[in-house]
Amino acid sequence: QKQDDYQLLGNIARYYQHNLKHHSDSKSVIDYLKGRGLSGEIVKKFGVGYAPDSWDGVMGQFGQSQPLSAQLVELGMAIQGDKNRPYDRFRGRVMFPITDKRGRVIGFGGRVLSDGTPKYLNSPETRIYHKGQELYGLYEAKKYAKDLQRLVVVEGYMDVVALAQHDIPYAVASLGTSTTVEQLQTLFRTVKEVVCCYDGDRAGRDAAWRAMENALPLIRDGFSLKFVFLPDGEDPDTLVRQQGKDAFETIIDNAKPLSQFIFEHLLSSLDTNSAEGKAALIGKFEPYLEKMPDSVLKDSMITDLANKFGLGSEQQLHKLTRTKSKTS
Ligand code: GTP
Ligand code: MN
Ligand code: MN
Ligand code: MN
Ligand code: MN
Repeated sequence: QKQDDYQLLGNIARYYQHNLKHHSDSKSVIDYLKGRGLSGEIVKKFGVGYAPDSWDGVMGQFGQSQPLSAQLVELGMAIQGDKNRPYDRFRGRVMFPITDKRGRVIGFGGRVLSDGTPKYLNSPETRIYHKGQELYGLYEAKKYAKDLQRLVVVEGYMDVVALAQHDIPYAVASLGTSTTVEQLQTLFRTVKEVVCCYDGDRAGRDAAWRAMENALPLIRDGFSLKFVFLPDGEDPDTLVRQQGKDAFETIIDNAKPLSQFIFEHLLSSLDTNSAEGKAALIGKFEPYLEKMPDSVLKDSMITDLANKFGLGSEQQLHKLTRTKSKTS
C-alpha cells in the first residue's frame, strides 16, 4: 500500500535528522555543519539531516514493498535503474528538507560534505514538488520572523540558514534557476518589500536583472523590489559570517531600488551626451516601461528620464507619453 506523499517525505526527513545524530558518520557531518557556523538549534529549526552514504538507506527503511518503492521513485527519493531494485538518490549528503507554505515536506536538497560533484543534488519535479513555485525557507520565515515586513531572496540553502543563524530569519532561496514570476508573486503576497541579494558573481548579477524583468508587471505602488550587489566572490553566507548581523542589515537597508538599477544598467551602455545616445535611450527604456503597470513609480521614471536627459522635444515626449498611456 502506498502512503500519503507528504507523510512519507515527512518520515524520511525525520529519518535523515535521526541519522545526523546517530549514524556512524555523525561526527564528521556535525563537524561540517559546525565548521559552517551552524548551531544545533538552527539545524533543528530547518530540519537539516544526513543521508547516509548507502544505496539502500531510504529504500531499505521505506521501500520494502513494491508499491512503496514505486512511490519513492515517483517522489524522486529513489532511482529506478535498468534492472533490479531502485536505489537511493541522495547518498552521503547533508539534507535540507524543502517545505511548502503549510510546512509539509515536498522535496530535498542535498549537499556533499567535501568537494564532490554535483555540489547540490535536488529533488526532481514531482507531483508535489514544483520547482520555480516554491521558496526555500518561506515557511520558516513566516514562523520565526516576528512582524514580517520584508523578505530577502538569496540563491542557496546555506545562505538562508546562515542568515537565520545570525538572527536574520527572513531570507528565502529561489533555488538554482533565477527567481520566477510565480515566486515573485508569492513574495509580494507575503510582504511589500522584497530585496534580492544574490551571489557577487556574474551569475548573481544576471539573476538580478532577470528577477527585475520578471517583477516589473507586479510592482504596484506601495510595493518595492530592491537589489543588493555583493562584492565579487561573496555570498550572503560568507558575508554575514564575516561582518555579522548589523553590517548585513545595513547593507539590506541600503539596497538599490529597482528604478535606480534599471537606470544605471541601461545608461552604462550608452553615451547620453550625444544626440544619438539620447535617441537610443528612449528605445532602451521602452520595453521595460511597457511592462510596468500604471503607477506613480512608472510616471516618475518617465519624468526623470525626460528631465535628466533633456528629452524635451515634442516628438520624444510624445513617444514616452504613448508608452505611459498604453498600459492605462
Ligand atoms: P555552499 O558552497 O554550500 O555555500 O553553496 P552555495 O549555496 O553558496 O552554492 P552556489 O552559490 O554555488 O549555488 C547556489 C544554489 O544553487 C545552491 O544552494 C543550490 O540550490 C544550487 N546549486 C549549486 N550547485 C548546484 C549543483 O551542482 N547542482 C544543482 N542542481 N544545483 C546547484
Ligand atoms: Mn510542475
Ligand atoms: Mn554563485
Ligand atoms: Mn553561493
Ligand atoms: Mn555559499
